Amino acid sequence: MPVKSIPLRRRIRNLCGSLLALTAISAAAETTKPKDVTIAEIDAAMKRGVDFLVGHQNTNGSWGGPTKTKGLNIYAPLPGAHHAFRAGASGLALAGMIDTGDKRPEVLASIEKAGAWAAAELPKLRRADQTTTYNAWGHAYGLRALTRLYQRETVAAKKAKWKELAQQQSDLANRYEDVNGGWGYLDIYDNLTTQKPSGIPTSFTTATVLLAMVEARDVMGIKLDDKLIRHAAAGITAQRTPDFAYVYSFTHRMRPRLDINRPAGSLARSQSCNACLRILGDKAVTNEVLTTWADRFLAREGFLSNGRKRPVPHEAPFKIAGYFYYYGIYYFTISANLLPKETHAKYAKQLAASILPLQEKDGSWWDYPLYDYHQPYGTGYTLMALAWCRKAMAESP
Ligand SMILES: *[C@@H]1O[C@H](CO)[C@@H](O)[C@H](O)[C@H]1NC(C)=O
Ligand SMILES: *[C@@H]1O[C@H](CO)[C@@H](O)[C@H](O)[C@H]1NC(C)=O
Repeated sequence: MPVKSIPLRRRIRNLCGSLLALTAISAAAETTKPKDVTIAEIDAAMKRGVDFLVGHQNTNGSWGGPTKTKGLNIYAPLPGAHHAFRAGASGLALAGMIDTGDKRPEVLASIEKAGAWAAAELPKLRRADQTTTYNAWGHAYGLRALTRLYQRETVAAKKAKWKELAQQQSDLANRYEDVNGGWGYLDIYDNLTTQKPSGIPTSFTTATVLLAMVEARDVMGIKLDDKLIRHAAAGITAQRTPDFAYVYSFTHRMRPRLDINRPAGSLARSQSCNACLRILGDKAVTNEVLTTWADRFLAREGFLSNGRKRPVPHEAPFKIAGYFYYYGIYYFTISANLLPKETHAKYAKQLAASILPLQEKDGSWWDYPLYDYHQPYGTGYTLMALAWCRKAMAESP
């Protein structure tokens, strides 16, 4: 046997060598363990993120575009799908930029330009055609941006204008609420053309739209259609499994044990869906549920991160797609914010320790190559999340 041919002394030496190697590895693991993130580090990262957005804003004030196509492109009927992607990416970028509170003149100028684009373009946003309602993303993140434009505005007449635009976005989103309850983005499988979509609402798109509407109502006092809100929320509840995972879409209800519908596959969705139902008054979403999912998210962040930057949707284990990542990060903060205040700083530090090292050399964050929209949307989500982390850490005793 080959092992016997190795002299004993050498074998002992080899063994010692491996032990040393193991010690070295564990020492390295210890030194690369995320150190305590400081507020100064968050500020520096946010500044670089904002610089990226200022430097990559389109001349017309929006962010992103239909370029950077590749072998496999996300289905996007022209031109409506791209209006919607640009509205969503621009809304996120603008909301993130405002949340940082950066007051440098070039940032204020960029916010002005983006606000003008939103005011001119959001009212035109509709579904691309009966197969595609990506406009749901544009209405939701357009609302997030409009809410922030309203908050920072000091002139009463301009405030009223932002509120009016937000009311219109909320009403437009209502038009495309699915007959099954909630919002989706694809309706390509049954060839049915209906006035209201009769396709596939997804749990997380519904939560995304509802959370943005509720924020807009709470901040600006826009009017929501309560009956429609209940109908949409019931759509999310119907997609919940007893472990507070949420299946991907309405059609997955009867297949709850598919990989993507299990807790691992739902990791990034449970944050937004639990937060949404809780905010709408669902008593089943207790602090214990939110805590379980927050802790699980942080413990498994690396598992979610494994899907980042993969070019094929859902190619990571449990059908994780790259674009789950920053979505999950942002809604982690929305969900954690519902827990008692004394827990926030701990969560904030852990989350920031995960996302700060992921910042690109150019200052952006991105998780999935989506035409040329991924850097603005990834950076927008991350800036909003970091602004929450910073606030939680600054307010901690
Ligand atoms: C704004 O600029 C982008 C990038 O050049 C372009 O794709 C888009 O069509 C322009 N117009 C609007 C209304 O966004
Ligand atoms: C939808 O229409 C396409 C093209 O006409 C056809 O190939 C497909 O089989 C239809 N699907 C259904 C579910 O009827």
